[in-house]
Amino acid sequence: MVKKFVGLLTSGGDCPGLNAAIRGVGKAAHSLDIQVIGYLDGFRGLVENRFIRLDSSRLSGILTLGGTILGTSRDKPHKMPAGELGTVDMRPFAVANYEQQHLDCLVCLGGGGTQKNARRLMKEGLNVITLPKTIDNDVWGTDVTFGFDTAMAIATEAIDRLHSTAESHHRVIVVEIMGHNTGWLALGAGVAGGADVILIPEIPYDIDVVAEAVLRRSYMGKRFSIVALSEGALSVDEVEQRDKAKKKAISSTTGATESVSLRLARRLEEMTRLESRVTSLGHLQRGGTPTPADRLLATKLGTACARMIEAGQYGVMVAVQGDACVPVSLKKVAGKRKTVPLDHAWIEAARLVGTSFGDQG
Ligand code: F6P
Repeated sequence: MVKKFVGLLTSGGDCPGLNAAIRGVGKAAHSLDIQVIGYLDGFRGLVENRFIRLDSSRLSGILTLGGTILGTSRDKPHKMPAGELGTVDMRPFAVANYEQQHLDCLVCLGGGGTQKNARRLMKEGLNVITLPKTIDNDVWGTDVTFGFDTAMAIATEAIDRLHSTAESHHRVIVVEIMGHNTGWLALGAGVAGGADVILIPEIPYDIDVVAEAVLRRSYMGKRFSIVALSEGALSVDEVEQRDKAKKKAISSTTGATESVSLRLARRLEEMTRLESRVTSLGHLQRGGTPTPADRLLATKLGTACARMIEAGQYGVMVAVQGDACVPVSLKKVAGKRKTVPLDHAWIEAARLVGTSFGDQG
C-alpha cells in the first residue's frame, strides 16, 4: 500500500551524481512504500506541472549516467521568466500543482540557489527536503557536496596533462577552473595536480607575487609553471575596485569581456617574458560519469532522504557530517555559502610544498 507521495526535481547547474541521487531517493522510497514523481527542468516543471513517474524502470541503469534524466534549469519560482510578461511570481502555481498531486513532500536536488528557492516554497506551506549537489562544494552545512569529487578528478587530470606540454614548450599555462565564489575546486585539483600557483576567490592575489613565483622556478631551472585559477579569483587591485564600484560596475571591473585566465596570462607573459597559454576547462568539469566516491555519496544522501520522508522530517537539507547523513534546518542553510577557510589543511599543505597563492603567506 502506498503510504506517501513525493515530487522530486533537480535545479541549478547539473553535476555528475544527480542520477545516482535520484535513483537513491527513488529506490529507497519504493522499498518504504513511497511513490515518487520527477518534475522536469527544475522548478519550471513544478510550476508548469510537467513530470514523469519515477517507477522502477525509470530508475534502472542510471547510476553511472552523467547529467540528470529530469533536466534542469536555473529558474526560480518567485521570479520566473514568462515571455512578454517578464518575470512572474509563479509560487502559487507551484503550490497548486503540489496540492493537485497530493504530495507529502517535495525533494529538491541543488546547490546554494536551490536551497534558497526550496526555503521560499517551504514558507508557502510546502514540505521540503533538499540534497546538496554542486561541483563547487560550497553549500553551507555539509562537509561535501556530490559532483565535487568528479569535477576535481577531471580538473586534476587536466592539470596532469598540461604539465607535459608546458614542460616541453617551457611555457606558463594558466588553467581556469570553475568556481565563481569559492575556490574549492581549483584548490583541490591544484593541490592534487601539483600546480605551482593556485589562485582562489578567498585569497586576493598580487600579480607581482605570482610573477615572482613563476620567475623563481625559472631561475631554479624549472622552465615551466602551471597556474590553477578559479574563475572567480581576483587580484588585490580588482577587489579594491569591486568594493568601490556599485554592483552594476562589478562585471566590467572584473572583466566580463575578457576571461580572467586570458587577462592573467597576458600580464604574466609581459612581466616574466615567458610564453604563456590558457586552458579553460569550462563545462567539461560538469560532464560525464560520476566517480565511485560521488556515486556512494549520492546514494547515501538519497537513501537517507527517503528515510527522512518516511519519518516526516521536513524543512531540512540532508547533509554529510563526518560519516553520518544528518538533517540540517533549511532555515540555517538558505542564503549561506561555505567558502574555503584560510587555515584549511589543503592550503597549509600546499604552502609547505612550495605552492604560491599569490599572497605573502
Ligand atoms: O554549478 C556551478 C557552476 O558550475 C559554477 O562553478 C559555474 O560558475 C557555473 O555553474 C556555470 O554556470 P552555467 O552552466 O549556467 O554557465
